[in-house]
Amino acid sequence: MPQFNDIELTAAVIHSFEEVKNPRVKFLMEELTKSLHEFVRKTDLTFGEWEYAIDFLTRVGQKCTPSRQEFILLSDVLGVSMLVDAVNHREREGATETTVLGPFYVGEHKAMPHGTDVSPSLEGEKMFVQGRVTDLNGKPLANVPVDIWHADDDGWYDSQKPDYETAGPSSRGRFITDANGKFYFRTILPCSYPIPTDGPVGQMILALHRHPMRPAHVHFLVNAPGHEPLVTHVFVEGDKYIDTDVVFGVKEELIAKVEKRTDPTMPDGKPAAAPWHLMTYEFRVRPGEGVAPKPMAVAENA
Ligand code: BEZ
Ligand code: FE
Repeated sequence: MPQFNDIELTAAVIHSFEEVKNPRVKFLMEELTKSLHEFVRKTDLTFGEWEYAIDFLTRVGQKCTPSRQEFILLSDVLGVSMLVDAVNHREREGATETTVLGPFYVGEHKAMPHGTDVSPSLEGEKMFVQGRVTDLNGKPLANVPVDIWHADDDGWYDSQKPDYETAGPSSRGRFITDANGKFYFRTILPCSYPIPTDGPVGQMILALHRHPMRPAHVHFLVNAPGHEPLVTHVFVEGDKYIDTDVVFGVKEELIAKVEKRTDPTMPDGKPAAAPWHLMTYEFRVRPGEGVAPKPMAVAENA
């Protein structure tokens, strides 16, 4: 009957993976075991703490539904999502910085004509967003679908609202770049908002004396054929939470000066009531393949 001390136990568990054929799976399981065991040894984890952790993870799982992914939220607030992003984008070669996809991407947005107001029925100050997609040499890329989505003036995404199924999308859309790689649309200026705090991850955040806020941003998913899909945000410069994003997603290069304007027309020549805001951003994508991320509900059934 083998019997292991606290050090030998790690080797014994790793030895139990001996028959695993896939070298990557074997490597990941070995490293996970080493890190978990090291954590328990280093902290002298008590039974009470271990039970608390099991109960917490159970509650995280129980909070998940096809439209609510509490485990991703946990990964986000512990910086794991941004770390996975970082280790997968060590070589950027001048491409636009990436950041988290977040839980509010619903996938396959409907393509709309340039200039469409994606938030026609929402309160808030109007914003004109103009973007351009290029390759790493600055050559414009035409016919690229760009999905955009953002929160409203109260900090809610359309998909979080009870009437989403009947009301349809709001503050989200897809624009296809023109021959100059350009796209533009109208919306409202988004504000900073809290991540969902009605679950165990929110309780954890508050218990750790952290605020739950994300600085105001617009999400972009640029999916140029023959290029790596770009998952990113453009953040509004000057936001109160720009330095303390609860999911650590802000990067200097992704902060845009959103100009307050009083001109009587927007850049496409159509009339505008002053004041309105102008967000301008250029997205550079790098050659590659890669599959655009799927929204959670789709991924779940895939
Ligand atoms: C978001 O930006 O939509 C988001 C990202 C991570 C966690 C929660 C929300
Ligand atoms: Fe967001």
